[in-house]
Amino acid sequence: MSFKFPHLWIKSGEVARTLTQGSLSKFKHLIKWKKSESILEAGFASGSNSLQTLVPLLPHDYKEFIGSDISDEMIDYAKKEFKLPRSEVVKLDVCGEIPSQFRERFDHIFGFNVIHVVKDPRKAFKNIKDMLKPGGSTFLTFFQHTPIEHSFVKLKNSPKWGRYDHNEMIPPYHYSASPLDEYQKDLEAAEFSKTIIQKAYETYTAKTDEDHEVLTDLFYAVNPVQLQISDEKERNEYMKEYISEVFNGPVVNQRLDENGNKITDLTTLNMVVYATK
Ligand SMILES: C[S@@+](CC[C@H](N)C(=O)[O-])C[C@H]1O[C@@H](n2cnc3c(N)ncnc32)[C@H](O)[C@@H]1O
Repeated sequence: MSFKFPHLWIKSGEVARTLTQGSLSKFKHLIKWKKSESILEAGFASGSNSLQTLVPLLPHDYKEFIGSDISDEMIDYAKKEFKLPRSEVVKLDVCGEIPSQFRERFDHIFGFNVIHVVKDPRKAFKNIKDMLKPGGSTFLTFFQHTPIEHSFVKLKNSPKWGRYDHNEMIPPYHYSASPLDEYQKDLEAAEFSKTIIQKAYETYTAKTDEDHEVLTDLFYAVNPVQLQISDEKERNEYMKEYISEVFNGPVVNQRLDENGNKITDLTTLNMVVYATK
């Protein structure tokens, strides 16, 4: 699923950042740094999350940092805005054919909040292994279910909106009783020499109107189906229904605090993978 709206993604960046920081604070001790390393981040979007979560962890003497994504819109944005010494931004489909210059090139490959949006996780894990040097390692975080997939299934099956193509938005293991078990099988197929898998819940809590706006911006940012609807009135109607479905879906929980204020928790069950080639 290629993300199309860099500005909205950045505007709502607090959510991805909170979830990533939660996983990193629990599991970053697994990452072992050496001197002069080559680092790839897959699916780094605009690079804005990376700058605040991963970049502060990098040793000063890293050799190169390559940020990559499948989305032209994200890559164009990041090429202009992502500023880091010895870095480059490239277009790369982590499930596609890997260019020869990337094979066995990296000491570390990171991917935050990405594997749950790729079409072929098995191929992604295999490609990540192929891009690692022997002894290199990958650190990946991804969700059992995204906050939006249930609403896309509902809209796909609705008489009104079913004519728009929602298939790209439904993760391959949406219908599985345990997506995390499916991801685990895909990881085993990649045959890393050592794999550590951790699971942990992470939550972004919206307390204020601004926080709720952040959530709404995020849900807009991750819906490219709206680009298929040319009529503005129809598009607004579609987005209203979509947003309402997401807020009422299983990953988002709304409640009132003791003062009667609306609180919304977005809680994901995260899989954190650390695997060595
Ligand atoms: C949920 S966003 C996460 C972005 C960033 N890692 C973060 O945490 O802020 C997922 C990103 O993965 C990208 N993506 C989706 N499929 C991909 C693929 N097959 N290869 C590379 N990137 C992909 C999307 O375009 C999007 O920018």
